[in-house]
Formats: sequence, C-alpha cells, structure tokens
Amino acid sequence: LNKLKEGILSVTSTEETKEAAGIDDDSGNESTVSITVVGASGDLAKKKIFPALFALYYEDFLPKHFTVYGYARSKMTDAELRNMVSKTLTCRIDKRENCGEKMDQFLKRCFYHSGQYDSQQNFEELDKKLKEHEAGRVSNRLFYLSIPPNIFVDAVRCASLSASSGNGWTRVIVEKPFGRDSDSSAALTKALKQYLEEDQIFRIDHYLGKELVENLSVLRFSNLIFEPLWSRQYIRNVQLIFSEDFGTEGRGGYFDNYGIIRDIMQNHLLQILALFAMETPVSLDAEDIRNEKVKVLRSMRPLQLENVVVGQYKSHTKGGVTYPAYTDDKTVPKDSLTPTFAAAALFIDNARWDGVPFLMKAGKALHKKRAEIRVQFRHVPGNLYNRNFGTDLDRATNELVIRVQPDEAIYLKINNKVPGLGMRLDRSNLNLHYAARYSKEIPDAYERLLLDAIEGERRLFIRSDELNAAWALFTPLLKDLEEKKIIPEYYPYGSRGPVGAHYLAARYNVRWG
Ligand code: NDP
Ligand code: BG6
Repeated sequence: LNKLKEGILSVTSTEETKEAAGIDDDSGNESTVSITVVGASGDLAKKKIFPALFALYYEDFLPKHFTVYGYARSKMTDAELRNMVSKTLTCRIDKRENCGEKMDQFLKRCFYHSGQYDSQQNFEELDKKLKEHEAGRVSNRLFYLSIPPNIFVDAVRCASLSASSGNGWTRVIVEKPFGRDSDSSAALTKALKQYLEEDQIFRIDHYLGKELVENLSVLRFSNLIFEPLWSRQYIRNVQLIFSEDFGTEGRGGYFDNYGIIRDIMQNHLLQILALFAMETPVSLDAEDIRNEKVKVLRSMRPLQLENVVVGQYKSHTKGGVTYPAYTDDKTVPKDSLTPTFAAAALFIDNARWDGVPFLMKAGKALHKKRAEIRVQFRHVPGNLYNRNFGTDLDRATNELVIRVQPDEAIYLKINNKVPGLGMRLDRSNLNLHYAARYSKEIPDAYERLLLDAIEGERRLFIRSDELNAAWALFTPLLKDLEEKKIIPEYYPYGSRGPVGAHYLAARYNVRWG
C-alpha cells in the first residue's frame, strides 16, 4: 500500500513539475493556452474580461505560454486593442510595486483580429495567427463569447469548424442570456451541441464566482452550528435580494427584450437559491454539486402570477436632479411593460423545505445597491424574554445575513442583554466583516470563472439540465405576464420599489430585511 501511495505521490509531483513548466502531454511537448475574446470591442470585454485576465496574469495564475486574442468586426490594430484594454486594467492586487511593468508584459501578449462572426474564412485567418503563437506546442483554446445572443451559434459554428485546437482542448464560455424561455433555451443548447460537446460548453453565471456565493457551501457544510438548523424546522423564510441604485442606462435595448426576471432572477438569484437549499453533495466534484442543484430546482413549484409583483421605474426629481424613467431611454418603446423590478415567493416541495417561503426581490433604480441572502429563523419557543419585545415577536428572531456585495460580510443578529443593572435586550450583530478580517482584496468573479474554465473545473458553470430546470420554473410566469400584458406597478427612480412587494411578503408573514 505504501509503495502504491508513493507511486501516486510521485506521479502527482511529476505532474506538478510539468504543469509549472507548461508541459502537459506525455510526449513532453509544452502546451499553450490561446484565449480568444469574441466581441472584444464590447462593454463586457473591456469592463470585465481583459481586467480579469490581467489580474490572473499578475498573480501568476495563467500558464507560462498564453496568448489573448481580441476578435470582433470593428477594425483595430494590435496597438489599438492594447491601448483600449490598458485603460481598464487596474492594479488592484496588494503587491503593486511592479504593476506597470506587468501590465506592459501582459499587453504584449494581447493581439487583435478583425472578422465577422459568421465567417469561417475569418476564423481560419484567426486560426493561422493562433498557430503562429502556439509554435508547435500542444494548443488549448478558450473562446469567450462576449457578444449578443443572436450570434452565439454562428460564432460557435465558425470557431469550432475553423479554429478548434488540433491537439489540445477547445472550450467555449457562453455569456447569458441562454434563451428567453424553455423553448428558446432548448433550441440554443441543441444548436450549440451540433458543434460542441456538453463538456466543452461553459455557461457562465458570474454570481457563482462571487466570493460569498462560493462561501455558501463552506458556511453550511463545514460549520456544525448551521447545517442542523438548515431546514423548515428552524428557518421561517429565506430572502434573496438584488438591488441596483442605477437604471438600465446604456443597456435599454438589451434589457427591454429580457426584463429583470430573466436578467437577474432566473439565473443569479435562482443559482444562489439552489446552492443555499440543495442537499449535501456526495463530494465537491462538479457533477455531484450540479446533481444536487438540479434536484432542488426540480423540487420547486413553477412560479405563479399571484405570487409575483412586477414594477417599472418612473422619473423622479430629487435635490434638483431629475432621474429618468425607464421608458425615457431612446432604445426602449414608450409603452414598454418590461419589468425593471420583481418580487416573488417560491416554494420547494421537499422534506427539508416544505412550506418555507423563499422570497426573491430584484430591481433596478432603487435606493441602494446590494445583493444579500437573509435567513430569518423561527421564534424561540416559550422564550422567557419575549416580553422585552412586546407584541412585535418578529424582532426577537435570529437572522443570518450574507451580504454578497458591496462590503462583503456575514452577520448573525442575536438577542443580547444591554449592559447595565436593568434587564433590557437588544439585537446585536455577530459580524464577520470581510474588510476588517481579511487584508487581501476580493477577486472579481470573472477572475475565478476564467481560471476555472482554463483549468477545466466545471463546478461553477451551468449544466444544460440545470438550465432546463431553471427555465421550467419561470417560463409559465413569463408567458402569463406577456400574454396578459400585466401592467407593472410604477415606482420612483431611487425609491424602495413598489409597495406591492410588501403586501406579497406580508401574505407569507414575512417582513423584508
Ligand atoms: P455589446 O453590445 O457591447 O456587444 C459586444 C460586441 O458585439 C460589440 O462590441 C460589437 O462588436 C458586437 N455586436 C454588438 N451588436 C451586434 C450585432 N447586432 N450583430 C453583430 N455584432 C454585434 O455587449 P456586451 O459587451 O455588453 O455583452 C456581451 C455579452 O455579455 C452579451 O451576451 C450580454 O448579454 C452579456 N452580458 C453583458 C454584461 C455587461 O455588463 N455588459 C453583463 C452580463 C452579461 P463589433 O461591432 O466590433 O463586432
Ligand atoms: C448582469 C445583468 O448579469 O449582472 C446586469 O445583466 C446587472 O443587468 C449585472 O447589472 C450585475 O452584476 P454585478 O456583478 O455588478 O452585481
């Protein structure tokens, strides 16, 4: 047994040495990773993808041999791409002293190729350029589709037929939206699978790459004090809240076709819910985790209109400044009914969660920016100290808050005696405030996800059956809203959102946190 163990250990250490040297095939060839950002001239590429790649490079997470190619229709030289990209790279990491130098080195690895998304010939030209950089090494290729969804399939067809790796892996990261409903999502998956295997498709939901969302499983499954309480027996309700203090400025054209339910709830909030509510996975393996997520999604009731409130922001003047209405955006039709706010009550019909309302709330142009998970616990039965709270027993329950952003924190509201000779209780926080506890800056979600895609780690990407289960929950509601032309409740820009959300919560004895 010991020999066997030694054998395994020595294999591991040889693998590690090879990896460090950028060598990863049996013949001893060095390998290289070519990352092509398709849609490199766009907003997401500039704001998130290039900065995340630079941060990975800066922290030595990228392999020894790598190249980044921008691909889009816009005409640009390599130098122009570098200039564009350099404006959004930041030295956010602690050891900043050689940042400028690192930036220059990174930019030297960035190139650009202009082409159409539906042209195999243009992708062949890209392929030739990639090969020059790969210089006969094993070539691994990652394509990041940072383009509007109507051209996903064209780009995948051309990339896979004309620019796939000949001797390494080829992976494609696909940005949301993955369809508009069950049918269009299934059609997209089917079309992608003409050219790619499921394990080549990395469907990104960047909320899964956020530090506190990743930490959810650690919190639950490695702390004895939480897991035993994680059920209908002790939890009264769970709230998943997303709000932004700005509107759809600049993205109205995209947004009007989707609305807040598709933009935030069906993916970001539902993914958090699945991680929150799933059963313990058999292991930390991607398939085991995703199996559990699918199970919990399939145990949920599809949303019904009576459990949903929709809203849309209207213009509001405050302090002499007039904030626009959603429909003031020139790319949005004046009579648009697209919700910019929604609140919903969801239920999981399984033994663990029977009867517990999971309340979601998501909105644009609200009074503050935040993403939070709030867990409200039941009352302490026969609590000796209830009289301290009068008739407002809600105030006496514990609440666990996971503040995903901004200012990441996990805090638990507990009842505590106010120091002094009397017996007065208040609610205080046991607070794990990340900025105070950890000096290291928190990486951007895109860094984690890009690194995982390069390493072939699928845990944080959405599998097609997961996607189907997610759409199955929302599609009937979305159809109803559109067919019945449900008029949203209008709320002023910068407010707390429609009052209807409070009535909805009150129906389930919940008060929003
Ligand atoms: P953009 O609208 O900026 O588009 C990216 C690039 O695609 C453009 O620079 C343009 O490049 C090309 N393009 C745009 N419209 C068309 C068109 N109609 N036909 C062909 N090419 C077109 O998108 P984003 O960068 O904002 O987003 C990229 C993807 O990521 C989208 O799927 C989006 O939904 C998703 N996403 C974006 C987020 C964001 O914050 N921006 C957040 C989450 C997801 P060129 O003209 O040079 O070819
Ligand atoms: C995107 C949505 O997926 O997430 C945007 O399309 C939203 O509408 C964004 O603004 C929010 O992401 P983050 O990371 O800034 O909270």
